[in-house]
Amino acid sequence: MASHNRDSRRQRLQPLAAAWLAIAMGFGMASAQADDLPKIPNKKPLKVGFAQTESNNPWRLAETQSFKEVAARCGWQMVMTDANGSNSKQVSDIQSMIAQHVDLLVFPPREEKPLAPVVLQAKKAGIPVILVDRNVDQSVAKAGRDYITFIGSDFIDQGHRAADWLVKATGGKAKIIELEGTTGASAANDRKKGFDEVIAKNPGMSIIASQSGDFARDKGRQVMETLLQAHPDVTAVYAHNDEMALGAIAAIKAAGKQPGKDIQIVTIDGTKGGLDAIAAGELGASVQSSPFFGPLACDVAQKFAKGEKVPTWVKVSDRFYDKGNVQESMQYGY
Ligand code: AHR
Repeated sequence: MASHNRDSRRQRLQPLAAAWLAIAMGFGMASAQADDLPKIPNKKPLKVGFAQTESNNPWRLAETQSFKEVAARCGWQMVMTDANGSNSKQVSDIQSMIAQHVDLLVFPPREEKPLAPVVLQAKKAGIPVILVDRNVDQSVAKAGRDYITFIGSDFIDQGHRAADWLVKATGGKAKIIELEGTTGASAANDRKKGFDEVIAKNPGMSIIASQSGDFARDKGRQVMETLLQAHPDVTAVYAHNDEMALGAIAAIKAAGKQPGKDIQIVTIDGTKGGLDAIAAGELGASVQSSPFFGPLACDVAQKFAKGEKVPTWVKVSDRFYDKGNVQESMQYGY
């Protein structure tokens, strides 16, 4: 049963991954890899290090699972670690993979700045790197010059899309609490930037409080509880991910208000929990942020190993879910 589900899921996702790659390959071909970048050896099995940031939410679990599933097809022998939400552990996990001489490093940098130097250390040690999901500070380590590519969503655009929906849903009038993701993560920085840009152009909309809930459900609930007491006039919530939105929904209900009616909520990710909350009328909308990077990373690595250039940003395109399409979109939840 479980393996049947996995197989049918894979069948659903593989054409999607190919489509993403096809779209992405059309972009950015002008910028490509410097000739002195470490090469991916053309051998099987290829020893690939995958250093996860944490495993405390469905998004992270789906991301890790997508690498486990693609490993056999791609001829990858995986070395996997979990940094448990610590930048310094993720850095030391990667340093240990460098010391083990893995053939390729793939990882989502937890924060932009603390994870940038280890990308340079890998390059110095002759180990090629592909970043997935989040990026590093480009003034320290640059895609195409210091690592092969960044595979991921346009987080600024996700923020724009969330804000556009909220402007429409509230008729351009709202007092918003923003629950930010992990401070210093590119996902949090850019989702904030994109959302705030749109809100700034709408005089009837104001962000009355903005605080980090660290992309975690319980932290999101705690922060929302506190902010609800300080701002009882709140009419909308923008959470940088579904897990914090679900935490906020719990806090709103505990305060005797109705999520989706008294307070409109918009978020990002498209997890199963998020889609269920849309179907229940508690969450207004969620911009998808796909965690399924395994097949994309495999395709990019194989192309690069053959000597082909790949774009320095392999951009993933994301769906959008609200009450209009949530029922037919349930299959994409994870
Ligand atoms: O970097 C992507 C974000 O990280 C996802 O939105 C979130 O759920 C995860 O922890």
